[in-house]
Amino acid sequence: MSKLSIMAYTVGILFFLVSCSFSIFYVYKVVSHELPKEEKTLEKFNYHIVLVTEELDNEYWRIVEKGAKAAAEKYGVQLEYAGPKQANIDDQVKTIEMSAASKVDGIITQGLSDEQFTPLINRVVAKGIPVITADTDTSNSKRMAYIGTDNYYSGFLAGKALIADTMGNANVAIITGSFYANHMQQRVKGFQDAVKAQKRIHIIAVEESEISRVKAAEKANQILQEHPEVNAFFGTSALDGIEIAQVVEKYKKQDQIYIIGFDTLPETLSLIRKGTIKATVVQEPFQIGYGAVKMMIDLIEGKKVSPIVHTDTRILRIRDLPVNHPDRMGEHE
Ligand code: BGC
Repeated sequence: MSKLSIMAYTVGILFFLVSCSFSIFYVYKVVSHELPKEEKTLEKFNYHIVLVTEELDNEYWRIVEKGAKAAAEKYGVQLEYAGPKQANIDDQVKTIEMSAASKVDGIITQGLSDEQFTPLINRVVAKGIPVITADTDTSNSKRMAYIGTDNYYSGFLAGKALIADTMGNANVAIITGSFYANHMQQRVKGFQDAVKAQKRIHIIAVEESEISRVKAAEKANQILQEHPEVNAFFGTSALDGIEIAQVVEKYKKQDQIYIIGFDTLPETLSLIRKGTIKATVVQEPFQIGYGAVKMMIDLIEGKKVSPIVHTDTRILRIRDLPVNHPDRMGEHE
């Protein structure tokens, strides 16, 4: 055999081997990757549930969504997360109406106000679509169940915390998410009831942030201008405390003004570590989302669910945070 033909044979064999490995690789890809993909598109969900919240990109609601998605995945349910981009009751109502019109198997939403939500929820339930309220309740509607914080009690705890953490005259300003939402009213009422027997505690102003960071900051600023005697703030929704803290820091008054906020978003926790926010009311948004989906599945399957499920709520202060967190290392220097 000539040198040339040996080379031709070698090239031929190499070419054969390379094409064999390509074919093996291709068959492997089809069998191991594409088939499951196909299976996935064919996957049938048991039910289609919608979670309608007041503000899509609010970090608090993203945690509720995470909990709801975790339960949906576990139980093979299709979960849709919907609502207005920025808090707006009319848009939220429309989203609920559209979900009902598209005949979903269940709707989880807030019972924000009796006036707008009770008749709406009753109409949806009359169509045969179960409704669960989460985070805030319209107890006089025909909703099947409520899951979330006991809002009156959580406000009461905030009042008790302020009593325990302050001495002497406390002139308090409250910034609340909304004057009209049931849970915000209950949080404020709980707080007022907790402090009402204390002669040294005076509620000077109650303002509304409309669940907006900008408005919360504006209101905090305005309060400090109009009422320089204010030395304590209570922010009743997740973003209020954070914005109050920014304004108080801007005036360099963090050592003179006590702030208690709501929820445990990362920004709130770091403001607690810094010492600007002294305490916050803990809610369990993941649990609320998870539990709401689980309850909805039980309802659809005809199982009994308790009409009111209160998730945990308590006060958190710097001493309740892990000591060796990097933000707390230099605290006693
Ligand atoms: C409330 C939610 C609200 C959120 C706004 C939370 O404390 O429970 O209803 O949408 O704050 O940031």
